[in-house]
Amino acid sequence: MSPLLEGKVAVITGSSRGLGLAIAQIYAREGAAVVLVGRSTGSLEKAKAQLAAQGAKVSAFAADVSNLEEVKALAAHAVQAFGKIDIWVNNAGVSGTYGPTSLIEPDIFVNVINTNILGTYYGSLVALQHFRSQGSGKLINLLGRGDKKPVTYQNAYASSKVWIRSFTKALAKEHAHMGIGVFAFNPGLVDTDMLRKLDAVEGFERKLKPLSIVIRLWANPANVPAERALWLASKATDGKTGIESQVLTMPKMIGGLVRDLWNSVRRVPKPDTSLDITSHKPFAL
Ligand SMILES: NC(=O)c1ccc[n+]([C@@H]2O[C@H](COP(=O)([O-])OP(=O)(O)OC[C@H]3O[C@@H](n4cnc5c(N)ncnc54)[C@H](OP(=O)(O)O)[C@@H]3O)[C@@H](O)[C@H]2O)c1
Repeated sequence: MSPLLEGKVAVITGSSRGLGLAIAQIYAREGAAVVLVGRSTGSLEKAKAQLAAQGAKVSAFAADVSNLEEVKALAAHAVQAFGKIDIWVNNAGVSGTYGPTSLIEPDIFVNVINTNILGTYYGSLVALQHFRSQGSGKLINLLGRGDKKPVTYQNAYASSKVWIRSFTKALAKEHAHMGIGVFAFNPGLVDTDMLRKLDAVEGFERKLKPLSIVIRLWANPANVPAERALWLASKATDGKTGIESQVLTMPKMIGGLVRDLWNSVRRVPKPDTSLDITSHKPFAL
């Protein structure tokens, strides 16, 4: 079988680690040239070397997705490196500090909004300009916890994902019948730094403790949702737009519970799902 993304060029934001890196690896495995993006050059270069060693066509570009000029420069870099852009994944995201909205440092709150909302807007803007002139392309925007209902103590993140969902659905309609696919993708719980390295307002750390169990029951390694992101970018979705793909469904949740129960019965040792929580002083004006 020929590789699914042979000849395609993909830009994946937030791909120096975590889910973005797994998506880049799987796209590259399927023949795509990939552009890695993140703010820290150190981890970008490490990720680039890792993919290059696997024989990938890979380039890396340091950019902050909340800066339009940097996102424009990223697109220019991708075109210079590989001649075009076929797939753009707005994956970069941050979760911010866990705790009551009114006790969170405004800079932290605003960084979540800037990265998740502005980053998705700028990435979509730049990608769609390319796709419109090309008459083809696939844009994938990442959803997450809270994309359908409010989440207490994670208000910045959850409300940013509601915005991304609504924004992406409108974009999909605006670009219907243009040969452009616009998709919303909720990868479910993914075992990455975002889940394990947490920030919390002092006094709210203990509320995060159940997350260890949640990770054990339902989190997937990043390659699992990355395979779904491959499907979204592949020929399988040609001529389609507005797909909302969700990895963690009710049957999968029930499956996770049953597997955990079965593992307890068989006395299978529990995997390490420890959390690394950094505490922050409550904000005061
Ligand atoms: N993990 C989960 O359980 C989960 C669940 C649902 C949805 N998601 C979504 O999946 C996406 C990826 O999450 P993840 O778990 O892989 O997170 P992660 O492990 O924390 O990785 C985040 C990536 O984004 C980059 N990044 C952060 N801010 C950026 C900025 N302003 N500009 C450019 N790059 C930036 C990071 O690199 P630098 O720090 O070097 O910039 C890193 O490469 C996010 O949109 C997240 O909301 C994750």
